[in-house]
Amino acid sequence: MSDVKIIVTEDGSHSLYHKVLKETYHSFHGAINESNYVFLDKGIRYWRTKEGLPSSINIFEVGFGTGLNALLAAQFAEENRVNIHFHTIEPFPLDLEVVKDLNYTSKINDGQYTELFNKIHEAAWEEKIEISEYFSIRKDKQRLQHIEDHFNNSFDVIFFDAFAPSKQAEMWEIALIEQCFNLLKDGGVFVTYSAKGQLKRDLKQVGFEVETLPGPPGKKEMVRATKNAST
Ligand SMILES: C[S@@+](CC[C@H](N)C(=O)[O-])C[C@H]1O[C@@H](n2cnc3c(N)ncnc32)[C@H](O)[C@@H]1O
Repeated sequence: MSDVKIIVTEDGSHSLYHKVLKETYHSFHGAINESNYVFLDKGIRYWRTKEGLPSSINIFEVGFGTGLNALLAAQFAEENRVNIHFHTIEPFPLDLEVVKDLNYTSKINDGQYTELFNKIHEAAWEEKIEISEYFSIRKDKQRLQHIEDHFNNSFDVIFFDAFAPSKQAEMWEIALIEQCFNLLKDGGVFVTYSAKGQLKRDLKQVGFEVETLPGPPGKKEMVRATKNAST
């Protein structure tokens, strides 16, 4: 029996409920709304504007899960004609039988990205795969705890999309926050839906500049942290 079941969130998009953790993969207030707001608007769009609209972006995601964030990043790449390389890690990949029932592509541009979403999920693991003219992905079946140092200083934006601190506390330990700092290039940004006080203190402790931003629908606040190593 599968550990997950599909639920419908308040914007009509699906998410998954993890029966063992008793936790959802996205906000109940809207999976697509949350991902677009936290990771696309406050992450990619913010970084790109700040850096003078560069034509390529390297993203690192913690927790590939349903692939929703990858799909939205691919949509951004296509619509803005920007090259995105998306590196994501996931130690517990979902069964494709579950993924095929998710309604994400029907909610985005009338199904225009269905083929792209399928390609993202069918892409081989542990290697860089070109999905479209503007979007490539590398999916590693790996834990954040085991990321190798040679990826340090490689990424512009980190999507930190682990399960909540109350459900998977080890993902939010300061050693992993420092790992994220090291993975980013100078000027890179880390975004997450959580705004826990301890997280903000740890982000500052490892060297980030930290902002508390208004949260996505249904959540008061979120956090963005910038690596300004030279200041
Ligand atoms: C909140 S869900 C991810 C949501 C995902 N970004 C999406 O849009 O569906 C958290 C994900 O982190 C994964 N995860 C669990 N332990 C992890 C670890 N040690 N390193 C990286 N990811 C982990 C889970 O399996 C799960 O898919």
